[in-house]
Amino acid sequence: MTENGQTPLYTPLGLLAELTHRCPLGCPYCSNPLALDSRERELHTSTWARVFAEAAALGVLQVHLSGGEPGARRDLIEIAAAAHAAGLYTNLITSAVGVTTRTLHRLAEAGLDHVQISIQDSERLSADRIAGYDGAFARKCALAAAVMELKIPLTINAVVHRANIDRIADMVALALKLGASRVEIAHVQYYGWALKNRTALMPTAEQAVRAVELVEELRRRHRGAIVIDAVLPDYYARLPKPCVGGWGRRSLNVTPAGKVLPCHAAESIPGLEFWSVDEHSLDDIWRNSPAFNAFRGTAWMQEPCRSCARREIDFGGCRCQAFALTGDARATDPVCYLAPTHAAVAALAAVQDDGPYAYRRM
Ligand code: SF4
Ligand code: FES
Repeated sequence: MTENGQTPLYTPLGLLAELTHRCPLGCPYCSNPLALDSRERELHTSTWARVFAEAAALGVLQVHLSGGEPGARRDLIEIAAAAHAAGLYTNLITSAVGVTTRTLHRLAEAGLDHVQISIQDSERLSADRIAGYDGAFARKCALAAAVMELKIPLTINAVVHRANIDRIADMVALALKLGASRVEIAHVQYYGWALKNRTALMPTAEQAVRAVELVEELRRRHRGAIVIDAVLPDYYARLPKPCVGGWGRRSLNVTPAGKVLPCHAAESIPGLEFWSVDEHSLDDIWRNSPAFNAFRGTAWMQEPCRSCARREIDFGGCRCQAFALTGDARATDPVCYLAPTHAAVAALAAVQDDGPYAYRRM
């Protein structure tokens, strides 16, 4: 750890490489920004290779090859090989639509270490409806089987909301059946595109409480067989999550066009200045870019965070959520029961309707 002014500068551990925003699915909770990078603006293979080498030199251990759907990149094998050559643990985050078994074999030869496949539900019809893509569920199951044949560790990621929250146990059972060693039960995070569908996605309070209790029970039931990670339903929480492990503290995101962000939704906060890998080294960006330094440490905090005993535990919650709900990115995350705006979160959670999803299409 070195010092950058008065703010401790940590070593980043993970790099999220958003290789493309292109994606065949239309998930109503898409975490990509509202303004997507076009194919023409995507970074070249050789630039990604340089970024991976710079990341490894900076201390990064893991790279997540993500999107959009990374399988939309024709040079995905070369990109994975470059990440492996840089000495990074290489994880592919995929919808499984667009990654064939042949591509997976070539990725394995290129040194791929881990695969994460998203599922939308444990039931085919519901899963395909949520994804906005007929046949997606079957392709996910088929790719998971291919991952198992290659003996690559598999994580299943299930984003949870009102339409599937009552099938968490079935989704964990599906993850076990597919051979996953880890399953992430992640409640929808409401910024970016998901805000458009908040009322259609929001679970009831009873569902959210039951889900939290059920995850604990499933952890006990499946101990030793599968690891269950859970992201709690924010709008029903009393305390906020330490989003991205603290701003500019442990991870970086590189967008398809090369901007480097402290979190995947950072572009939703107006006024932040992001630097690009085309103009700066990753080391320079990590230390000196205005966006990374905007919310590092605790000096930027307002009350009640500034004098709170938890300020170095949850870092005031999520900056993107604070901005989305209050219009002030420096505000205490309204999910916190100490925030002056906390009551507004419960009021928003209570607004629910069963209208059609606004699907995400590029
Ligand atoms: Fe966390 Fe701020 Fe709430 Fe304290 S006041 S618990 S630091 S969000
Ligand atoms: Fe940006 Fe939480 S998503 S800080």
